[in-house]
Amino acid sequence: MDSSSVYPMSDQYITGVPLLDEQHGQLYSLTDQARNLLKDENMLYKFDELKEILNGLRTYTLSHFSAEEDFMKKASYNQLEEHLKLHRSFIERLNQADEEVSRISLGNQDSILIELLDYLNEWLLQHIQNVDVEMVKAIEAAC
Ligand SMILES: [Fe+2]
Ligand SMILES: [Fe+2]
Repeated sequence: MDSSSVYPMSDQYITGVPLLDEQHGQLYSLTDQARNLLKDENMLYKFDELKEILNGLRTYTLSHFSAEEDFMKKASYNQLEEHLKLHRSFIERLNQADEEVSRISLGNQDSILIELLDYLNEWLLQHIQNVDVEMVKAIEAAC
């Protein structure tokens, strides 16, 4: 199954640029996986699954951020630097999660997951719904 089709995005998250929307769908899907992992009471050790989600997030940042940054550069977007800073902050948060997972235990795995999930939910709302959607609108308005 195409991972982007697992999590239907509501209209306010759609930028209208098919590649970016498809990649954003991957982030929704990964966030969904993290949510399901947190809720899964039958699974005792969540280490491997959490690492898998983090690997997926890493791959997502590599493909999506470069595609989105190319899109902004080609359009000579005037808020590029600010946007790059936000993308870098996401990568730093992933580095932090990798570091936390290197010290994971049964006692702290759920709190690591909860904090990561909070960050991803906030990113979906603040970054994709606001920053990315507004960026595409601004670029289209300038054309
Ligand atoms: Fe972005
Ligand atoms: Fe994005």
